[in-house]
Amino acid sequence: MSKSKVTVVGAGNVGGTTAQRLAERNYADVVLVDIIEGLPQGKALDILESGPVLGFDSNVVGTNGYEETAGSDVVVITSGSPRKPGMSRDDLLKTNQNIVRSVTEEVVKHSPDTILVVVANPLDAMCHVAMETSGFPRERVVGMAGILDTARYRTFIAQELKTSVRDVFALVLGGHGDTMVPLPSMATVGGVSITELLPQDRVEAIVERTRKGGGEIVSLLQSGSAFYAPSAAAAEMVDSILLDQKRILPCAAYLQGEYGINDLFVGVPVKLGASGVEEIVELDLEESELDDLKNSAGAVRELVEVLHA
Ligand code: LAC
Repeated sequence: MSKSKVTVVGAGNVGGTTAQRLAERNYADVVLVDIIEGLPQGKALDILESGPVLGFDSNVVGTNGYEETAGSDVVVITSGSPRKPGMSRDDLLKTNQNIVRSVTEEVVKHSPDTILVVVANPLDAMCHVAMETSGFPRERVVGMAGILDTARYRTFIAQELKTSVRDVFALVLGGHGDTMVPLPSMATVGGVSITELLPQDRVEAIVERTRKGGGEIVSLLQSGSAFYAPSAAAAEMVDSILLDQKRILPCAAYLQGEYGINDLFVGVPVKLGASGVEEIVELDLEESELDDLKNSAGAVRELVEVLHA
């Protein structure tokens, strides 16, 4: 059986690390694309040369063009400028709109049946750009944010309770921005709700730190934004699609009435399988959580309106 093919567009920190993680999984060949000459070729060759040591034999190719991407099963779009300290994700809107549009045009020309996994920021708005440019159905355009935000939330909960992250289940919904909605009601450790395990002020502090989790990394790094956790999250989505795992994962999906939200990408739990977004899971949220989700959707809508202005 021939391996699946994944293209990662953008050979920066997120793209390079995503390519590495996918190559190491050994179920797909990987094409890394960037406009900077030498960068994708160099990173791809370096990843390839780790294969003999790590024991994988996925092919990894770097390129400045799109011919090599032809027939990709999944394309991960990471290209775009990252944030600088003090910038919000929204400050990247216009610059990254142009980048994501031209990348999507090229990708679709060579892989008309692919599934797009969008990672560029501002995430939810860039999902719109990818969907509108590609003309793809909503099943085949999905954004990476919820897994990352949820991973941060789980990390902070585990740290607070001195427990393994593996036993922390949690969920962050909404847009990938300051209005995101980490749900205390759905966060459990070994099946017990964090609202029972922690005083309210600690829960609130964890929720707040989660909302600002990306900014915390940006201000520590001083140049660039997070990439280890974002690439881990993107790779988990690719796994679920290409291995048809049908995981239920929080992702940015195009809502058409679910949660009372229309024609908008917002982070919600979805079932990811071989055909992409196979189902949007509608949770029975508490009234205040649903309000927060709608508020977050409102923030995404404002950005989408700027895109179209
Ligand atoms: C973050 C950026 C990548 O949340 O959006 O780290």
